Amino acid sequence: MEQSPYQNLAADCAPAVKPLAVTLPRLKQMQREGEKITMLTAYDATFAALADDAGVDCLLVGDSLGMVCQGHESTVPVRLEDVRYHTEAVARGTRRSGGRPFLLADMPFGSYGGNPNQAFANACVLMQAGAQMVKLEGDGWTASIVEFFVSRGVPVCAHLGLTPQHVHALGGYRLQAKTDEAARQLLLQARELQSAGAGLLVLEMVPASVAQNVTEMLTDCPTIGIGAGSATAGQVLVLHDMIGATTRRIPKFVRNFMVGTGSLPDALRSYVAAVKSRSFPIDAEHAW
Ligand code: KIV
Repeated sequence: MEQSPYQNLAADCAPAVKPLAVTLPRLKQMQREGEKITMLTAYDATFAALADDAGVDCLLVGDSLGMVCQGHESTVPVRLEDVRYHTEAVARGTRRSGGRPFLLADMPFGSYGGNPNQAFANACVLMQAGAQMVKLEGDGWTASIVEFFVSRGVPVCAHLGLTPQHVHALGGYRLQAKTDEAARQLLLQARELQSAGAGLLVLEMVPASVAQNVTEMLTDCPTIGIGAGSATAGQVLVLHDMIGATTRRIPKFVRNFMVGTGSLPDALRSYVAAVKSRSFPIDAEHAW
């Protein structure tokens, strides 16, 4: 029998089934239900689309782009315009899925430390480029900025522990919160940031036990660890590090997911599966 040209019309006209977008309330629900959150950095449309297809929950347009894309020695030279450009590209990359992953963008060095109105205008540039949340590095001094942004509709991810924008003040990329007093301070800062309205908190290079204490204390602000052990609500890695695409020394806490997978889509899927199943990171390999 001849096939009617209209046979598949209904199916063609039916709205495509779109995967549910990841939202901030959904991330908080994942924390409550014990489902680990997966986050990766992304800087361009192609990698963003691949990470989206692999089921990564959150994409971060990190100012690490200064090192991995621009060849700088630190994130300090990154400008607001650079993050805006990469955020637009990443947002375009996830358009196919209707923007399923939750998209964060880093506010670069110097873009939020002065006048709050100027800082807010800078945050709006990134939100209008496609970000759904901005990330700020810094301890207690950022709490008032977090409050200022959140009260005006800009969700904020805070970032404690090793804050790479302060590398010159910290004297290098080192483990933070090593002493009891420093760990106590970090706990107080985390609580202050949650009270100010921070919706997520990145904990970078702190002892696993400290990250665990912070994670257990914060009931309304999921923690996302990088070099902070296995107890955080989620994990983030720099994309280039986790596929071994770097000439730099790779930090000990990173796993190369290309090993044993052989293709980029498989490596990304393997990262998601490893974090969700709690087989990455493993504290014994964590080396602190
Ligand atoms: O800039 C970045 O990539 C980051 C992550 C390492 C958390 O801040």
